Amino acid sequence: MEQVKVSLNEKDIPKQWYNIAADLPSPPLPPLGPDGNPISPDMLAPVFPMNLIEQEVSSQRWIDIPAEILDILYRWRPAPLRRAKYLERYLGTPAKIYFKDESVSPGGSHKPNTAVAQAWYNKQFGIERLTTETGAGQWGCALAFACSLLGLECKVFMVRISFDQKPFRKLMMQVWGANCVASPSNETNAGRTILAKVPDTPGSLGIAISEAIEQAVCDPAGKTRYALGSVLNHVLLHQTIIGLEARAQLKSVGIDKPDVVIGCAGGGSNFAGLAFPFTADKINGADIKIIPVEPTACPTLTRAPFAYDFGDTACTTPLMAMHSLGHDFVPPPIHAGGLRYHGMAPLVCQCVVEGLHTPRAIDQVECYEAALTWARTEGFICAPETSHAVACAIQEAKKAKEEGKEKVILFNYSGHGLMDLTGYDAFLSGKLVPYELPDSELEKAEACLKNHPRAEKRKTGRW
Ligand SMILES: Cc1ncc(COP(=O)(O)O)c(C=O)c1O
Repeated sequence: MEQVKVSLNEKDIPKQWYNIAADLPSPPLPPLGPDGNPISPDMLAPVFPMNLIEQEVSSQRWIDIPAEILDILYRWRPAPLRRAKYLERYLGTPAKIYFKDESVSPGGSHKPNTAVAQAWYNKQFGIERLTTETGAGQWGCALAFACSLLGLECKVFMVRISFDQKPFRKLMMQVWGANCVASPSNETNAGRTILAKVPDTPGSLGIAISEAIEQAVCDPAGKTRYALGSVLNHVLLHQTIIGLEARAQLKSVGIDKPDVVIGCAGGGSNFAGLAFPFTADKINGADIKIIPVEPTACPTLTRAPFAYDFGDTACTTPLMAMHSLGHDFVPPPIHAGGLRYHGMAPLVCQCVVEGLHTPRAIDQVECYEAALTWARTEGFICAPETSHAVACAIQEAKKAKEEGKEKVILFNYSGHGLMDLTGYDAFLSGKLVPYELPDSELEKAEACLKNHPRAEKRKTGRW
């Protein structure tokens, strides 16, 4: 019997995070301020604590994980690496499929890896309250959990459509002591402005981010900061513990390197967390196909321009060099709430531009079909976001079968779907149809990027 569960001894947990900025073939493009010039770290100080800003701009390859953070992570880390043997058998593939199980965290996803780190650094800096946005609710839960352990207040703006679809996520946040409201809300100027224009808007991550930033920077006591669950360099950094563990676990079963590495990509953090350590191996010559997977309904990496754009709808963030569907993009209400962001982590975009990652878009119907195959072979019920990685792994395993190759496929199992059953309900009752973002929406994105005086469009290609 081949090994199905590969665990890592607690004493072997990674003690440092890996920063890919140190190894990219060309340096990442800097974020720009309102005047079009690169921002200085102190311009971010009203939004983030300085210790996290230092990580955001760091080009140091390895950054120590404080012992107090590890002490919290030991609750569920090292996370198991599992072999999807039952799916392999069902597909009749010669490929070996491994998945890194991030669903075992208290919140049920990879998000607590950075929530704990961000809450800890804020606490060290003397901050008492964190604000944030959440799409699917996973990030809001993760931050609520982390804040409860570290004694911080937590305020979550939850995208309206998810707030209505996922009442249990809101309750989880309340159990961990957080205050969760639907976004757009009447509590901020950004929210009120949108509600006045479109009272029945489903909301978007861009809007919720604007609300959370506004509340953080408007605290007269200066004791509130904002926390982001994806996209930024320091968030991706904290997630690299996933890939570092996975690499050690594969080595422990005699696998030097995987052939294919897969993760679903919303803002890019779970994908990058798994992929960046292997991207470093690829930069050093290893032959690895690395695939971020996104929905055809929100095809940021596969179809959107690579441009300077804002991270939020109200244009309060610096301009970031990323693939973007435009900061005013209101995505169609597909069920993978965590994969609806208009932009993508600049570090992931840079890897795509450099040809290190090959993005793929998969339709939600194929993803739910994959999720059912998964549940009926492996047994676990995955998050709708994660189903994109499962669907891609199945595509790759079928390809390996056609080619008769014994490939090693590794994917990130970013979360369970036990709180996401309304999406499964829609699929099982035949209400979900294939959806590809129409070209007219991409034209709007081009217009959004072109029309804003500070959003400079850059051509895709090597720099
Ligand atoms: C389970 C799960 N996977 C993936 C994502 C996408 O986020 P990211 O791309 O930052 O990993 C989310 C976001 O909410 C999520 O909840």
